[in-house]
Amino acid sequence: MTPDIKPLIAGNWKMNGLTAALSELRIVSDAVTPAIAARADVLLCVPATLIAQASSASYGSPLMIGAQDCHAAVSGAHTGDISAEMLVDAGAQMIIVGHSERRADHGETDAAVRAKAEAAIRAGVPAIVCVGETAAQRQAGKALTVVGGELAGSVPDSANAETVVIAYEPVWAIGTGLTATPDDVNEVHAFIRQELVLRFGAEGYRFRILYGGSVKPSNSAELLAVSNVDGALVGGASLKAADFLAIIGV
Ligand code: 13P
Repeated sequence: MTPDIKPLIAGNWKMNGLTAALSELRIVSDAVTPAIAARADVLLCVPATLIAQASSASYGSPLMIGAQDCHAAVSGAHTGDISAEMLVDAGAQMIIVGHSERRADHGETDAAVRAKAEAAIRAGVPAIVCVGETAAQRQAGKALTVVGGELAGSVPDSANAETVVIAYEPVWAIGTGLTATPDDVNEVHAFIRQELVLRFGAEGYRFRILYGGSVKPSNSAELLAVSNVDGALVGGASLKAADFLAIIGV
């Protein structure tokens, strides 16, 4: 944790969840009381198809609903894509951009991710910009170089701590059950902080830097205690209300 930064615990449902899954979301929204939200922001990024229903289901709760990707343009001839404005119109309060699964599955470049982050900001919501190295890159000793390059390329120049959240998600730790050690996380998060301060000056100290990759109830406290870890981006464990709530500390 970083003193004076309010943590963000975010769930990413990825391509999981039909209408019936809203029963899990309702359990979370009922449990996230104003007292809990006073010490941490809590967000669930559901599939785009569920954003409107999830917003209604959590109405009155401080639980925030988010999206997992957006198109960079406001509107136009982009069949099947969804703009940041449309996601916000449906109820999204934050948008993940540049997740490694999108970088891998859809060939998203840093420039594309930066344009999407700018789109989220344009639409009035913060972008959660994901960065992280693969196993091969880490083994080659290039973890910091890769993360530094993605940060430089994907984070807009206009970013500030209100409009951008960084998520460090080592690709080898996503969905594998392998978690980076607190020492690994400490090293990369300290590096990200340093890069943000170099680029944005004192503002760099205020950005939230989340850790993601096999975060679960059994390891979340240890990971969240690492300095410069200002929250978590949780995949699989966010699908079950009980696990997600345990990570939040409810
Ligand atoms: P897991 O928690 O399932 O490893 O997923 C992490 C992730 O990719 C969150 O965006």
